[in-house]
Amino acid sequence: MTGGFPGAESINSNLAQAAAEAGIAMGVGSERAAILKGQFPRSYSVVADHAVPLKFANIGAPQIIRQAPDERVVTIEEARAAMELIHADVLAVHLNFLQEMVQPEGDRHARGCLAEIGGLARALPVLAKETGAGISRSVAERLKERGVRAFDVSGTGGTSFAAVEHHRAVAQGAEREARVGKTFWDWGIPSPVSVRELVPLGLPVIASGGVRSGLDVARAIALGANAAGTAGGILKAASESLEATRKEIAQLIHELRVAMFLTGSRTVAELQKAPYVVTGETRWWLSPR
Ligand SMILES: Cc1cc2nc3c(=O)[nH]c(=O)nc-3n(C[C@H](O)[C@H](O)[C@H](O)COP(=O)(O)O)c2cc1C
Repeated sequence: MTGGFPGAESINSNLAQAAAEAGIAMGVGSERAAILKGQFPRSYSVVADHAVPLKFANIGAPQIIRQAPDERVVTIEEARAAMELIHADVLAVHLNFLQEMVQPEGDRHARGCLAEIGGLARALPVLAKETGAGISRSVAERLKERGVRAFDVSGTGGTSFAAVEHHRAVAQGAEREARVGKTFWDWGIPSPVSVRELVPLGLPVIASGGVRSGLDVARAIALGANAAGTAGGILKAASESLEATRKEIAQLIHELRVAMFLTGSRTVAELQKAPYVVTGETRWWLSPR
């Protein structure tokens, strides 16, 4: 979720220590600032000090495509360095084109994105992730063809970067972008729908985007996801203290156990087979068209 500014070191330290203790995975935020500008590398590398069982490095798809003739792109070697900085197992490449469209200074070129992700995926273990707008099956299929090995859906229902950037655009007096942010506030595929879109591809799927409780984790697993993740749901605790972070993670795990108990699921594999009912708008999304 984060890194690249002075306060991020303590956030990532809290997250890494608590994740190591609980035996869960963690991913840092975009490492662009550290790789291209050498800014605040310690805010990321602090994660390597802890025995987090699965670590995700992070770069943005817009950073591997040339945005302007004089602008540098992140090379394969720099992406490898981003992984080494935190001793990562996987490189997460985030797709955030909605966010870029609402940012007054956004990177708006996407041409060549699939080919460049393919280039990275030939050299490194790459997971593709969204940042709040979800991934469709057709996009995932094209990424899989190019060697992407896993997905983090990050659909709608949680943090909206159109909303975050709308407020920034208002503060900067960027009227056009502020309105784009309002118009596209809820743009995207709901997280449960994106999970269902991607599970048939047979690659690991992480559910994220609005996961706020252990019951949400259980729902994601029952829909076929292999794991679930939260960013907005842990930010406050991680910004506060290690103790608050431990407490939030313990609550999520406890609630997941409650859901497993109540559905008679002894293992995560059994929970994946638990019967469930889809209601409301999600049901409409999932109905055959
Ligand atoms: C403060 C904050 C910073 C984030 N920074 C990044 C980032 O640098 N790279 C990335 O891939 N996703 C980033 N995200 C997106 C999250 O990884 C996640 O996809 C999204 O917030 C949806 O999950 P949520 O509803 O649990 O927040 C960030 C999210 C938050 C809240």
